[in-house]
Amino acid sequence: MAPPRQTLLLRSARGHSRSTAIWLAAEELRGGGVVAFPTETVYGLGAIVFSETAVRRIFRVKGRPSDNPLIVHVSSRAQARELMQSIPDEFRILAARFWPGPLTMVVTKNAAVPDCVTAGLATVGIRMPAHPIARALIRACGAPIAAPSANISGRPSPTTAEDAFEDLRGRIGVVLDGGPCAVGIESTVLDLSGEEPVILRPGSVTTAQLAETLGRDIRSARGSSARPASPGMKYRHYAPKTPLFIVMKNGRRMNAALRDVIDGLRRNGRRVALLAPADCAGLPADAFFPLGRGNAVDYARHMYQGMRALDRTGSDLMLCPAIEEQGIGIAVMNRLKKAARGFLPGNA
Ligand code: TXA
Ligand code: MG
Repeated sequence: MAPPRQTLLLRSARGHSRSTAIWLAAEELRGGGVVAFPTETVYGLGAIVFSETAVRRIFRVKGRPSDNPLIVHVSSRAQARELMQSIPDEFRILAARFWPGPLTMVVTKNAAVPDCVTAGLATVGIRMPAHPIARALIRACGAPIAAPSANISGRPSPTTAEDAFEDLRGRIGVVLDGGPCAVGIESTVLDLSGEEPVILRPGSVTTAQLAETLGRDIRSARGSSARPASPGMKYRHYAPKTPLFIVMKNGRRMNAALRDVIDGLRRNGRRVALLAPADCAGLPADAFFPLGRGNAVDYARHMYQGMRALDRTGSDLMLCPAIEEQGIGIAVMNRLKKAARGFLPGNA
């Protein structure tokens, strides 16, 4: 690994400072560098897709296994087409409805995409981010940006520039600040390279939305399926350092269930961090991070930031109430289960 270097946190709130910050970040990328940048889902750790040395640096910086492919971010449909062998009908239809936005489509790649980007796969995942700074950065580079989430592998994805900075300080030259991410969890990944579309990773674009748009049922990949699922899904992910447990309410009111669990743990000398809807603020936890009103959208938006914030409190364990696995709640519970050590019954 290259020697540690000074990491610039470039603020890009608005106006002149925004265009200057984007220009500086694009300069870093054009010079073969690696830059953390905002998207509407989570912060990405980007390199120009055609710069193989820079793409390899992404894997080193993150400590990412080299068999886990990167998503390529584009600022136009034309730029996406330049990476693809052919354009499936579903791609056109879904891009028209969901781009720019949190949908990554996996299609057969062409020779323009370096093998190191796709971990040797014949397919490439492509997404047009909705965040204006992300698209402005891609336009300023004049080329697509390959980027995984901007966390050290295994940690929760960063949803603020400060959280990206926490992981990457001294490892890269630039973190471009675009404020907190609106969605807060990673994009839906949909494989269009096979006979039928398959969801490889659930996200805020839901199965129902995809099915309705394509006018057909959409399958989700299972670990045991014959087709290769998303390589990234086999790794442990998103985990805070503090052991996280998901609390099931078991038919009780969640606040009452949480209170009993917290009381029991604290009586046993455990310091408890609570990641839960804002109306749980009065519960007797040692540390608390609010998940808005506690709906799936609010969970998604605040969950990773909360895991990181509560990690800094030195608690013995972290609790988070389960939500219903429906709509975006499917993606939220998918990430929570990957982050958690296990479940706690709410009548414990
Ligand atoms: O929202 C997002 O998708 C964020 C932002 C930065 O765009 N990016 C992100 O990237 O979450 P990453 O690398 O953390 O997750 C990418 C996922 C991995 O599970 C990877 O295996 C899968 O997408 N993936 C990428 N290319 C693929 C391909 N060609 N075939 C199957 N899965 C692929
Ligand atoms: Mg990731």
